[in-house]
Amino acid sequence: MTFPDDFIENVREQNDILDVVSSYVSVTKKGRNYMGLCPFHLEKTPSFCVYHSTNSFYCFGCGVGGDVITFVMLAEKLQYHDAVEFLANKVGIDMPKYRKNDNFLDKKTIFAINRLSAKFFFSCLMNCENRSALNYLLSRGLFKETIVHFGLGYSKSDGYSLVNFLKKSGFSDEKIEKANLGVKTKNNFLHDRFINRIMFPIIDVKGNVIGFGARSLDNKMPKYLNTAETIVFNKSENLFALNFAKNQEYFILTEGYMDAVSLYQLGFKSAIASLGTSLTLGQAKLISRYTNKIYVCYDSDTAGKSATERAVEILSKENLDVKIIEIKDAKDPDEFVKVNKEKSALKFKFLIKNSKSSIEFKISELEKKFDVNKIEEKVGFLKEVSKIISKIYDPVERDVYSSKICSKYGVLKSAFDLKIKKNLQKNSKMMFSDLKKNQKFARSGILCIEEFLISCIIKNNDLMVYFDDFSGKDFSDKITSELFIKIRALLASGKTVNFRSLSEGFNQKKIGEISRILNLNSDSDVPKSKFLKYISIFKQKKEINNFKLSENLEKNKILKFLDKLKNSKV
Ligand code: GTP
Ligand code: MN
Repeated sequence: MTFPDDFIENVREQNDILDVVSSYVSVTKKGRNYMGLCPFHLEKTPSFCVYHSTNSFYCFGCGVGGDVITFVMLAEKLQYHDAVEFLANKVGIDMPKYRKNDNFLDKKTIFAINRLSAKFFFSCLMNCENRSALNYLLSRGLFKETIVHFGLGYSKSDGYSLVNFLKKSGFSDEKIEKANLGVKTKNNFLHDRFINRIMFPIIDVKGNVIGFGARSLDNKMPKYLNTAETIVFNKSENLFALNFAKNQEYFILTEGYMDAVSLYQLGFKSAIASLGTSLTLGQAKLISRYTNKIYVCYDSDTAGKSATERAVEILSKENLDVKIIEIKDAKDPDEFVKVNKEKSALKFKFLIKNSKSSIEFKISELEKKFDVNKIEEKVGFLKEVSKIISKIYDPVERDVYSSKICSKYGVLKSAFDLKIKKNLQKNSKMMFSDLKKNQKFARSGILCIEEFLISCIIKNNDLMVYFDDFSGKDFSDKITSELFIKIRALLASGKTVNFRSLSEGFNQKKIGEISRILNLNSDSDVPKSKFLKYISIFKQKKEINNFKLSENLEKNKILKFLDKLKNSKV
């Protein structure tokens, strides 16, 4: 989170650096400036200088320097945000509204309520006099250890057990409602949200219980009821069982909670499930943080097939290697396990081995939609297939699919290739306009990266060798560009690069900016891997700027790159 510029400006202006510094060390006037003993290193003769006119400081002894905010960060050992808050409080400026910490505390309370409820549901399942819930799960083939592993539970049918328990544990009605574990009737009476259901706790990768999926035991609709959106739960941004699967090499994405649980029990620990909605881009991004290979294993009915097509589309946007597992002789993976009994593990392995690539899957789905014995439909089919094949980037891969289709459907290869070429030209035009649109969004990301790189060079001048091919023009912002030019000039003339030499000739506002950039990475050593990562992004940016409209623009790669920029935070 960043503060608005004018707010920071105000904090800086109202905190006279001389006043602030004077409350830590005494300084005396020397010429236009003030000198004193440096509070940041041990010294006997004063080398700490306050430049009143630019509201900044610099120590000739240890080299630290910056504006009034930097001074407080160092003197009070505070993070940037807290130093700003410290100075704002000092002169009575209100903090911007969103700086309140309530949300954070609220989240912690909701996590605590959720965790306690999960334990309560679990003990109801295991210890209830009425064993029907447990028997239900056992009858569906789950082992006790699987139930324990997933922490499955039972919400009783009386309608108030959980709410009473939570209240007794000290939670207020308001918080219970906020966690969506209790709901109020018209008469303001708080009762349980989940009644007579099997409870599936949904746990994020950090181990927080963020919500629940709940299956009805008495045919009450809806069959599955999820936690509604709360401040910690958003069903389109999370995935069931990701907490268990996150370290696996690949994931198997299913539609239902029971599918993921059954596959896990069968030994496929990489099974995850979406939360009762179709897959979202947010979920695809989440997946791509942990793996680059995913098998989509949805229901075998037509709804499942079209959901698969949508999911494949979304997952491909994240450059994931997507394969499709087609369940045979059963409605869903859970039923597959049941039907195939002791053979199911072996059979499922076979399905994985024979999974289709997304192109194969799309073509086979198309084949079902057309009657290729009719000339007109065959032409329509081939047209659609050519569109799919045109989207393949790799020319060899494209050719393999083309050849296969041509020989299967008796089409002249040269004719089909001509069609592909036309599609490619059309596609690249679209990509180019997409690229332009996306570049705008990527700007803030690249700014962060450039500022970080500059802060690294200032800390370690040797890193300048990485910038041989760059000039000030390659930086997107005035300040980073100016700083880069200045650093290069200083080094060329054998001068040292530090806060003082850099801020010479800049006004107070710019000096504040320089000081902020200088303090971007607080480690004394430059984090090398991060530096290398960002320099490579910076180089790619330069390359992309030089792109011309060409047939071979690799759309996904570029969009992914731009996305990386958008999301980079330093
Ligand atoms: P079982 O009958 O227990 O095997 O469930 P299933 O997973 O086979 O059910 P289904 O294929 O009907 O649903 C798949 C997933 O969709 C479930 O795991 C739920 O996440 C979600 N879902 C199913 N029915 C509903 C519903 O009525 N409401 C909501 N919100 N989600 C549902
Ligand atoms: Mn099922």
